[in-house]
Amino acid sequence: MVESIIFSKNKLKILNQLKLPLQVEYEDINNVTDAWNAIHSMKVRGAPAIAILAVLSVAVELNDRQLISPFNDNKELLLSRLRDQCTYLCTSRPTAVNIDKECKQLVQLALKLSTDSNVSFEAMVNQLTEYSVNLLQIDINTNKAIGDFGAKHIKSLANKESVTILTHCNTGSLATAGYGTALGVIRSLHLTNSLTHAYCTETRPYNQGSRLTAWELLTDKIPSTLICDNMVAALFKNKTVDAVVVGADRVVANGDTANKIGTYQIAVLAKYHSVPFFVASPLSTIDMSKQSGNEIPIEERPADEIKKIGGIQITAADIKCWNPSFDVTPNELITGIITELGVFAPNELKTKIN
Ligand code: MRU
Repeated sequence: MVESIIFSKNKLKILNQLKLPLQVEYEDINNVTDAWNAIHSMKVRGAPAIAILAVLSVAVELNDRQLISPFNDNKELLLSRLRDQCTYLCTSRPTAVNIDKECKQLVQLALKLSTDSNVSFEAMVNQLTEYSVNLLQIDINTNKAIGDFGAKHIKSLANKESVTILTHCNTGSLATAGYGTALGVIRSLHLTNSLTHAYCTETRPYNQGSRLTAWELLTDKIPSTLICDNMVAALFKNKTVDAVVVGADRVVANGDTANKIGTYQIAVLAKYHSVPFFVASPLSTIDMSKQSGNEIPIEERPADEIKKIGGIQITAADIKCWNPSFDVTPNELITGIITELGVFAPNELKTKIN
């Protein structure tokens, strides 16, 4: 399985996803500004991956002697700098809630350590670093649990030993610390000989499906086929698809879910064709502070992402474009939300998750 984020000996590296699948190239992230740029330009993307990268970039700075020397032995100053860094990192992309939540938790821990007189400055740095690095393994364990719960649930609902799944965007190892969420469900099905086939959409305009998911599926030898986004209705009509499984950038209290643009139209089509529609979402993507999908901020990206492919202009130069990067699927179109605690109907979230 490919690694999108590597942290070793206080050095942080990312796989530059802008170059995939043609080039597999890792690059260094030396500070918080590098991380902000990598997230904003989508060198690293996917809700869990951007949150982990943000927090790890803070850890890199904490362990950079030169950067940290002005704060030496002043835990309060360090806390204040860490707060500023986290606020800045959260401006990189607005829709996924994970980065906000992970940054808040890091600041919370820093606050606790800074006010504990038994904790030295060095111990504070070490504990914050350890916390950040642990997020990588925690995310992989979370994704495996999501994968296993989802695989079992979908097989039982379909009443079949082997099922065919459609997914959208990229939710795999590239979008997480490893294994993936929706792609984790596909992976778990495959590992238990329960996957007949996986279909992935191209996911225009950024092509996370054709550039990233198709590459991950092929690399991991998972039986799969790529389709264009406008082929989903025809797929449901002409082939057997047992379930749709997509990821999420923010699931709110009533189960409304923001995910990659195009998710909503797949959910509408799935309802029409009676195909169960699942959202794979770690708890870190669930935002109980918002009551409905109308409250979710939706990122709009540059027109050039529509007008150009691989840097080559494919449209009239002056055409106006609207490029929302995400849409919101209303709860009534969602069969279940697959989390690391199990699979819940959207209206169960309020009682099962706190
Ligand atoms: O714009 P992106 O590529 O960051 O969007 C990614 C998605 O919409 C994913 O489905 C979501 O972040 C879940 S990734 C496990």
